[in-house]
Amino acid sequence: MKGIKIFAPATVANLACGFDVIGLALDFPKDEIFLYKSNNPGIRINRIDGASLPNDPKKNVAFVALQFLLSKYQQKQKFERFERKKEIGFEIELIKNIHPGSGIGSSAASAAGVVFGANILLGNPFNTRQLIRFAMEGERVASGTAHADNVAPAIMGGLTLVRSYKPLDITRLNVPNELWISIIHPQIEIRTSDAREILKQKILMTDAIRQWGNIGALVAGLYQEDYGLISRSLEDVIVEPIRAMLIPSFYELKIKCKEIGALGGGISGSGPSVFMLSKGNHTAKKVTEVMNLVYSPLKVDYKTYTSPINRKGVKWSKII
Ligand code: HSE
Repeated sequence: MKGIKIFAPATVANLACGFDVIGLALDFPKDEIFLYKSNNPGIRINRIDGASLPNDPKKNVAFVALQFLLSKYQQKQKFERFERKKEIGFEIELIKNIHPGSGIGSSAASAAGVVFGANILLGNPFNTRQLIRFAMEGERVASGTAHADNVAPAIMGGLTLVRSYKPLDITRLNVPNELWISIIHPQIEIRTSDAREILKQKILMTDAIRQWGNIGALVAGLYQEDYGLISRSLEDVIVEPIRAMLIPSFYELKIKCKEIGALGGGISGSGPSVFMLSKGNHTAKKVTEVMNLVYSPLKVDYKTYTSPINRKGVKWSKII
């Protein structure tokens, strides 16, 4: 097999209380990536549709993540001497349906998609944890930090929890059957690196206690499919109070969405997108309508999405 088409989902990181550790994958939107294995060494990006991304390969997340994988593959080949060293390269075509800088994991989709696809084209030499590790290198380029809370759900699907970064230890969480998500993406630019820089490096013990209570209870709520407990746990007392000022009408959005029945929500990743979780498709659609009502009078372009949770993560199909 020489070429495959990959579908890489959007993701929501943090999920209110789980800064840098919790994330989930959406069914919609998805990036499409065509990846071809070639005998010409090196990685070439031949087409980017839907976004203007850096031409400089060192700043392109797909390039960086794939190069990291390729260097590990070549080390592996050297080590496993029985395999004759072959020249290997890749050609990439990216169709970006997830807007860069939207806060719903655009860079993660590119990075996760290419490493997942390359692994298949190479005959699956790497496991899921290694693929996440490679995709995190893409995130390092995009945001200055190799966080995993977007790339893990993009690759694994569903809801994921990073228990530890060193060593990397990631686990999947239960996805309650009726969990849906509404997203509003105000078309303003917030760079993840800037949104991280404004955060405090030290936090109060009282805030930490509240936050870890919420994370533990959120995980319990997900397993017990207790939507009331999930709702009460969607509270972030550490990051959101600082980042909220970057997003127009953030608190109005939250209040009005909860009034119509949302379980709760917050900033998606580092923003500017805002997410709300709901029990059931019907409520999620009403919540998305409320998001539209709050934003339509503002002089800000925006997009909204309503999606179930994506349980599968990156998907692929053979093209050659
Ligand atoms: N956890 C990261 C942050 C996600 O909030 O900075 C960035 O998408």
